Amino acid sequence: MTPSSRLLAARQPVTSLPFDHAEGCWVYSPDGQRFMDASSGLICVNVGHAHPAVLQALTEQARKGAFASPGSLTPRLQERFAQAVTKAVGRPEDRVTFACTGTAAVEMAIALARSVQRARGEAHRHKVLTASLSYHGNSALALALSGHRRRRPHPDDGLGLGPAFDPPYPGHHRNCPLDICDSGCATEVDAAIEEAGADSVAAVLVEPVNGTTGGGYRPPDGYLRAVRDICTAHGVLLIHDEVLTGLGRTGLPLAAHHSPGSDADFTVLAKGLGAGYLPISAVLMSPEAAEDLLSADMPVPLMGTMSATPLQATVGMATLSVLEDIGALDRERVRGAVVTDAVGKATQDLAVVADTRGCGYFLGVELTPGTQRRALALSREQGLLLYPFNGFQPDGGGEGVIVAPPLNISEEETAFLGSALRETFERLNSETPRAPSIDRTRGAA
Ligand SMILES: Cc1ncc(COP(=O)(O)O)c(C=O)c1O
Repeated sequence: MTPSSRLLAARQPVTSLPFDHAEGCWVYSPDGQRFMDASSGLICVNVGHAHPAVLQALTEQARKGAFASPGSLTPRLQERFAQAVTKAVGRPEDRVTFACTGTAAVEMAIALARSVQRARGEAHRHKVLTASLSYHGNSALALALSGHRRRRPHPDDGLGLGPAFDPPYPGHHRNCPLDICDSGCATEVDAAIEEAGADSVAAVLVEPVNGTTGGGYRPPDGYLRAVRDICTAHGVLLIHDEVLTGLGRTGLPLAAHHSPGSDADFTVLAKGLGAGYLPISAVLMSPEAAEDLLSADMPVPLMGTMSATPLQATVGMATLSVLEDIGALDRERVRGAVVTDAVGKATQDLAVVADTRGCGYFLGVELTPGTQRRALALSREQGLLLYPFNGFQPDGGGEGVIVAPPLNISEEETAFLGSALRETFERLNSETPRAPSIDRTRGAA
């Protein structure tokens, strides 16, 4: 941002590059330089830029009619889109409502969960419990609930809300009795429900794989299932925020698919649905929750003006069909191992890399303190654009870069990504004095 800029935008660790156009995994500057978009924009351009099938759908539908009021016109395309979304993530019996952003869909899921509780006669259940390392969006409510340390609202603005339990990640589960968290650490969720007063809790809201707050921490085996069981035992609804992870980002259609038996009552999708072409998000609701809600004589919180226009529905169906064609919606096969391996090899045996985590096409590389800015600069010299993540440690420190290319990255492009990353981290390593290693066991602080 220059001093004369009229644009209010987030400060970035390195200056932004001039943009001309983009195609596939690549973005081009006006002088013809190209960079691999190795974080898919903001981890959303999951089918690559300027995909011909999506562009065709977009332009044809825009010519036919971008908007048609569902107040008076049959939402035929939206109905087809709803069916396509539920099928895409293996929840064909679900009901769906659409919105534009991940934030709006998370808020919609919360509103629906509270309504379902009331429809069930649970009049006092309104609280929503979240993890102390999490991000759920930038509205007042979502920020108040998110455990994003850098984005926590001022205490006066937090609506009296805040995260309720520690997640089972190294260094983040305070007072964990184990060296490494296991599924038993879900007792934190149980304790948080008890502490809030079980009959006042409407829902638990979690990211099944941690997103950009921590750079892809994965819960231990069995943890999400245990959370599911705890919620069921308390009559609490479970919301999975799959805004970032949904639709193939972690190698399966949903991140929750890595954890059998963990199915949520509500699943929230966003980034990969519009895939950077249009703002589209969705809340999927289980048939049981939908039946209770719809059979009660009460208003249902639904639709905003731009909730699934024919244009959004058509583009959403086009991205889903590309994802299906590339196998990203196949539940039987975990995809992305080549990308995960490339990142693993690029970071191997380098002291500057504190940790590598994540799965599929979503990897976080944690770096030693004070090196992130240089890593971003060096990666650009190698023709890569990466996404920074910061401030995830309980003491406010912690820095790293996200590697999250489009899900249709080719073998050749993956090889480029691997060698450009290796060169970046080797150079960073050789420039960086050795720092003491970080203790990642036993939840500190
Ligand atoms: C897990 C998660 N939830 C919610 C959001 C908010 O989505 P949006 O930025 O589309 O409002 C994000 C955005 O990064 C996210 O990563």
